Amino acid sequence: MFKIAVIPGDGIGTEVTSQAVRILKKSSQILNEKFEFVELKAGGIAIDSFGKPLPDETLSAALSCDIVLLGAVGGPKWDNLPYESKPEQALLGLRKSLELYANIRPAVMFDALVESSALKQDIVKGIDIVVVRELTGGIYFGKPATITKEDGIRRGVNTMTYTELEIERIAHTAFRLAKSRNKHVTSVDKANILHTSMLWREVVSGIAKVNYPDVRLDHMYVDNASMQLIRNPKQFDVILTENMFGDILSDEASMLTGSIGMLPSASIGTKHALYEPVHGSAPDIAGKGLANPVASILSAAMLLEYSLKQEELARKIFRAVEIVLNEGYRTADIVSKGTTTLTTEQMGQRIEAAI
Ligand code: IPM
Ligand code: MG
Repeated sequence: MFKIAVIPGDGIGTEVTSQAVRILKKSSQILNEKFEFVELKAGGIAIDSFGKPLPDETLSAALSCDIVLLGAVGGPKWDNLPYESKPEQALLGLRKSLELYANIRPAVMFDALVESSALKQDIVKGIDIVVVRELTGGIYFGKPATITKEDGIRRGVNTMTYTELEIERIAHTAFRLAKSRNKHVTSVDKANILHTSMLWREVVSGIAKVNYPDVRLDHMYVDNASMQLIRNPKQFDVILTENMFGDILSDEASMLTGSIGMLPSASIGTKHALYEPVHGSAPDIAGKGLANPVASILSAAMLLEYSLKQEELARKIFRAVEIVLNEGYRTADIVSKGTTTLTTEQMGQRIEAAI
């Protein structure tokens, strides 16, 4: 039996997660395996009921589950709370406590959606990129992180720090992934300026040379990488990068494919794993059945692939999404001329049927 912690969170998080759970229930039938779902609160909803974004109950239950499926957290209602009390802290707390150091964010272009991209079709058709983002280090977690006041002048400080061990383990994740794909890693840094990046480049090069001679490694500065992603995205296979650069580049990569509503992610550590859509809680469309459940459903597919080693079923779910799109069904974020608009739930049902 597999125990899965389900944290729907806020906004459209609840709507899309229930469609992902639908697909996981279907998967449990197909695999003839029992899945136990443990629903937990985190984010704004947890602030409202427990007074903090990541209650101890939620954290300890998530720690005991190994696998977490998350929707999204946050919303305008909680935006003005102090830093430690914001919904986003639930996410950072889970990443740190579960030691989810490897964030895997695929950006795949579905043929049926080439028109939804803001870029020309010949540039985006066939995009298949994975961003491998370091998730528990760098400027997100470095100390000091504070606002001080000296002589009446306020000063904000954050610290970017990486040890070679942190760089090594994420590099291994990226190279292993590249070996199963097109054997090409682009390591993105700012080694012309930042010391963390100089170390990053040195360590990544060393690992490539010793352990992965069959994988091609390129280095690219982050400013250039953000430009190359628009100019010629198909030059990329696996993009390996640190926490904040990965945050920014994965949003950029997602938009190449037309909608951030399509993109799943996996955050993996040695013991635990968390799966969530790349998109946020989208409070403006919450509760209206407008949200695209595909990112959450594909996150469930990643859960099956990475945590349960059910690659074939994961591929089947991906294929089911493709079929439904090819049949002309869309959610509001990806409608185009001549397509049929479905609600969040209808989209989930269609995908389940296609599986
Ligand atoms: C993401 C989000 C988070 C991040 C926020 C919500 C803390 O943007 O998962 O990319 O910055 O990591
Ligand atoms: Mg982000």
